Amino acid sequence: MTTLRLSGITACVFDAYGTLFDFTSAAAQERSALGDQWQALSDLWRTKQLQYTWLRSLMGKHADFWQVTGDALDFAMTSLKIEDPALRDRLMSLYLKLCAYPEVKDTLTQLKAHGMKLATLSNGEPKMLKAAVDNSGIADLLDAVLSVEEVGIYKPHPNVYRLATDRFGVKADQICFVSSNAWDAHAAKAFGFRVVWCNRFGQAPERIPSPPDREITTLASLPAIVGMS
Ligand code: 2OP
Repeated sequence: MTTLRLSGITACVFDAYGTLFDFTSAAAQERSALGDQWQALSDLWRTKQLQYTWLRSLMGKHADFWQVTGDALDFAMTSLKIEDPALRDRLMSLYLKLCAYPEVKDTLTQLKAHGMKLATLSNGEPKMLKAAVDNSGIADLLDAVLSVEEVGIYKPHPNVYRLATDRFGVKADQICFVSSNAWDAHAAKAFGFRVVWCNRFGQAPERIPSPPDREITTLASLPAIVGMS
């Protein structure tokens, strides 16, 4: 991927879980209780959480991300034969206090200082997102916290991405959408955003339509791409 600038960007919109917030930090904080199963639990929890969002959207059976996250955790714990209701409750409450990735606050601060509009656009429901945003100290940097609950269907449905163009009153190509979830990046590109994939986990490129415009490994590379370094 080239590192050429994306011109004409007036807003940067960030995916939340995996991009701003480290969803593995919940299980990692219960490593003492989970032992060497903590990573397997975290991975299966996340995989099921996303699968359930896609399945519910295709079935037309929406439930919010708190419900889906709890259902996915129950599946993962049962699959790994972990029977511990107190641990389950601790893991769910930790999901409200996920760690932000280390470069997040500085990057948002730099973009904000250059006049960029900032938002997060997420599958998360409003209470979960407010908790994560407040816990990571970035609330005052965001102009909007956008949740799929406003449209009642999950990513990658285009109605979700339209929340951002509606909120900022701009054309899709004036928004730079940033996600670590490659499928989310492709869907955002298909909607019409300029898109930067933050490939935090060294993943291979997806074989689906609408590849992102740029690929980075840390959000710290973003200001130079949107002309704000
Ligand atoms: C989010 O919407 C895709 O879970 C990710 O925050």
